[in-house]
Amino acid sequence: MTDNKTIAFACDHGGFSMKAAIVAHLESRGYTVRDFGAYTAERCEYPSVAEPACRAVVSGEARFAILVCGTGIGMSLVANKIHGIRAACCSESYSAKLTRMHNDANVLCFGARVIGEATALEMVDAFLDHEFEGGRHAERVAKITEIEARG
Ligand code: RB5
Repeated sequence: MTDNKTIAFACDHGGFSMKAAIVAHLESRGYTVRDFGAYTAERCEYPSVAEPACRAVVSGEARFAILVCGTGIGMSLVANKIHGIRAACCSESYSAKLTRMHNDANVLCFGARVIGEATALEMVDAFLDHEFEGGRHAERVAKITEIEARG
């Protein structure tokens, strides 16, 4: 069963500057953070940290993952290679909200070189505080899953 109060987190050196604020924000909201690194600001490879964070979502160890790199793009590219992951790279909270409501996204990616910390925390809240609407959106998400299954 998925742990609804656990969030997987990963960043590379490009996202490290925001890590402490995001983790503190999640914890202040009662979430447990499963930290997949990076643990220092040293250069590291975003695929190496994004993959295990996403696998934690697929396995149910975490409800969602939040991935931060310089732009959010590398993280989202990696995440969307993993079966069962629907990752959205966002830079404002409207998209972060709608990607939960319409796409049933389970991974939020963003870039610490693109947005400021206040926007990042707003997006985290928008993502966590909205549920998938289902209905016609469920049919579309099912089509994404069909495409994924075709490889
Ligand atoms: C690292 O320099 C940078 O390429 C990375 O953080 C990310 O932006 C990749 O998409």
